[in-house]
Amino acid sequence: MTEHSGQVAHNARVWNYWLGGKDHYTVDKEVGDQVTAMYPSIGEVARADREFLGRAVRHLAGEAGIRQFLDIGTGLPTAANTHEVAQRIAPDSRIVYVDNDPTVLAHARALLTTSPEGATAYVDADAHDPDLILRAAADTLDFDRPVAVILLGILNFVLDTEQATDIVRRLVDAVPSGSYVVVTHPTLELGGAGNAEAMAFWNENAKPPITARTGQEIAAFLDGLELLPPGLVSCSRWRAEEGTEPQQVAQYGAVARKP
Ligand SMILES: C[S@@+](CC[C@H](N)C(=O)[O-])C[C@H]1O[C@@H](n2cnc3c(N)ncnc32)[C@H](O)[C@@H]1O
Repeated sequence: MTEHSGQVAHNARVWNYWLGGKDHYTVDKEVGDQVTAMYPSIGEVARADREFLGRAVRHLAGEAGIRQFLDIGTGLPTAANTHEVAQRIAPDSRIVYVDNDPTVLAHARALLTTSPEGATAYVDADAHDPDLILRAAADTLDFDRPVAVILLGILNFVLDTEQATDIVRRLVDAVPSGSYVVVTHPTLELGGAGNAEAMAFWNENAKPPITARTGQEIAAFLDGLELLPPGLVSCSRWRAEEGTEPQQVAQYGAVARKP
């Protein structure tokens, strides 16, 4: 039996469990529940992250006029996937999804329901190999035109900060001026009692291993780019719906533009 047969909890499926989805095994639910017992706000983090994705993509497809999206570390299909949010605003949007989890690959069909004017594609690849990702994405995206590179909850699986920095650099170098980078990343700086213990438990019991980073480390990934207001903040508070005052979650979020 391989580790993907359901014996070892995997991030894509546990994330799906925290988001209230159905695409997970018993082991994912068990580990997900154990993490929740240690770190009760993890479900709020997952939901806040997806809501941030919605707000960021709506801004990019709307006001910012972006028509191409490269979503690395996509996760299992859920409500309001990137192409659905973007194509609702701009039906001609083209989206490339990338993940390395076989369960995501198995469910990729649900990510490929494009509007006739646009396009979606799925690339089964590891975020540690940006060159391969860029080569495969070039079948669908035109790298002479602006691209939004979406890195939500993925750099935290690149444990070496220098390597994570190089990956972001490589991606930014491949896109023209007027492109964007969208990031979320877990941190121990924004509260979230039990987060460090839960991450240590995760790393002993599930795959792939994860790391938290400081706001300074996460901001450094975006060096040379222009942070859109309000900058790097708890992702729940990034351009929150008017009149709402969401609880802070222990996950930074930012959108930055390549000048
Ligand atoms: C926390 S989930 C985030 C999903 C989605 N981006 C979101 O924000 O809701 C992380 C995703 O990254 C994927 N992932 C983890 N390590 C990866 C790697 N080295 N290469 C590609 N995908 C990876 C997992 O399979 C999972 O689907």
